[in-house]
Amino acid sequence: MQLDWPAHYGDPSWFLHDRFGMFIHWGLYSLKAKDEWIMTQDKINKEEYEKLFYQFEADLYEPKKWVKQAKESGMKYIVLTTKHHEGFALWDSAYTEYKITNTPYGKDALKEFVEACREEDMKIGFYHSVIDWHHEHFTIDGLHPAREDEDVKAENRDMKIYQEYLYNQVEELVTQYGKIDYFWFDFSYDDREWSWAKGKGAKDWRSEELEQLILKHQPHMIINNRLGLDRGVYTPEQYQPTEVLMTSDNKKRVWEACQTFNDRWTYNPNNLNMKSAEMIIKLLIDTVSKDGNLLMNFGPTARGNFDEASTKVLEEIADWMTYHSSSIYGAGSSSLRAPQDCRITAKEDRIFIHIFSWPFRTIHLKNFPLDIQYARFLHDHSEVTVKRFDPADLIHHDLPVIAEDEVVLELPVIKPNHLVPVIEIKL
Ligand code: GLC
Repeated sequence: MQLDWPAHYGDPSWFLHDRFGMFIHWGLYSLKAKDEWIMTQDKINKEEYEKLFYQFEADLYEPKKWVKQAKESGMKYIVLTTKHHEGFALWDSAYTEYKITNTPYGKDALKEFVEACREEDMKIGFYHSVIDWHHEHFTIDGLHPAREDEDVKAENRDMKIYQEYLYNQVEELVTQYGKIDYFWFDFSYDDREWSWAKGKGAKDWRSEELEQLILKHQPHMIINNRLGLDRGVYTPEQYQPTEVLMTSDNKKRVWEACQTFNDRWTYNPNNLNMKSAEMIIKLLIDTVSKDGNLLMNFGPTARGNFDEASTKVLEEIADWMTYHSSSIYGAGSSSLRAPQDCRITAKEDRIFIHIFSWPFRTIHLKNFPLDIQYARFLHDHSEVTVKRFDPADLIHHDLPVIAEDEVVLELPVIKPNHLVPVIEIKL
C-alpha cells in the first residue's frame, strides 16, 4: 500500500521501523513546573518572565543519562525542544541573547545532547516552535501572552523581521549540530481567528522556504506536519486513533502519536495524572498495531534530571521492552482481526498477539486462514499449544468446539508476570 509521504523528504524507513521515541520538553517553563504554556496562560509579560532566565542553573543536566534511560526503555530516537513558544534557545544561537549560554548554566546544552545521542546511536530529533512570545517582532495574536496589553499591541512589529530570525535559527540548527534525523515543528494555527487578529500558518512562517532550507543541508531529514503544509509525519496528540490512518486517496499515513507522561509536556510534580507503565506500553502496542509511532514525552526538572516518577515508569517500560521489543520494532498492522481484548502486530512471517486482559485458558483466533508453524510466549519462549478443528473433539465435552477456520491457543490459568504478555506466532 502506498505511503502518504512527500517525495522530497528523507526516507522514513528508519522511523517506520523504530516505532518508539522519547519527547523531551525542557526550558525556562520547567522552572515554573506547571505548564509549558504558562507564559500565556498567566499572561506573564516579557520582563517578568525573563527573571526565570537568571535561575536556569541546570546543575543536574547530564544528557548522557537521558539518552541511556531512553535507550534502556527501548526508545530509538529522542526529540528535544530547541526552542518552545517562550522563545528561549537551548543552544548558543548567534541571533539572540535569550539563550542557555547566557544563563547560569552557561553551556550549549543542545551540543551536549547531540553528542550524547551519537555516542549511543540514538537518532536525533529537534523540536522547534515557529511561535515566539519573546521576540519583539512576533506579532500579537489571540494566543500571545500580551493579547490584552494595549501598549504592546500598539507596538510597530514587523513579522518579516521575525520570519528572518526564525529562518536564521533553523539554519543554525541544521548546519551546526551535525546530522539530525527528524525536524519537529510546532505549530500552525491559521484556523484560529479573533475579532482583532488571525492565527498564523505556513505563509507567516515562510514554511516552504524553511522546508527547502532544511532539506538543502540535510536531504535525509524527515519533517512533521505542523508547518501548515499538510505533509510530513502526521502528529495527533493526546489521542489514540481507532484504526490505521489513511488519506482520502487511500494512502497510508506516516503518523506518530504524541503522548505525555501526565497531562502536559513540561515537568509538573503536582499534575498527578501520571500514566502507568502498563498504560504507556498499551499505548505503544496500540499505536504500532495501527502502523504508528509513539513519541512519549517526559519533562525533566529545571535542574535537568528526570524526577523519580518518570524514572520509575521508564524502568518498568525498559523491563517490558527487554522481553518484547521484537513485537514492536519493524512491526505494524495486520489484516487479521485481533482476538477479544488483544492487539495484533505483524512483520514478515510473524504475528504477535498482545494480551491486554488475561483470559481464562483460551484465545480464539477466528477466521484465521493461515498455517501456524509454532507459537510461543515472547518473554520466555515457552511453547503455546495451538488447537485446530478436529471432528473427534465433537465427542468431548470439556474442550471448545472449534470452527474449521478457527484456531485456539491454550493458555495457563496464571498470567505470566509481565504487564502485557505476548504470543508470537510463526507462520
Ligand atoms: C501541543 C502543546 C505544546 C507541545 C506540543 C507537542 O501543541 O500545546 O506545548 O509542545 O503539543 O506535541
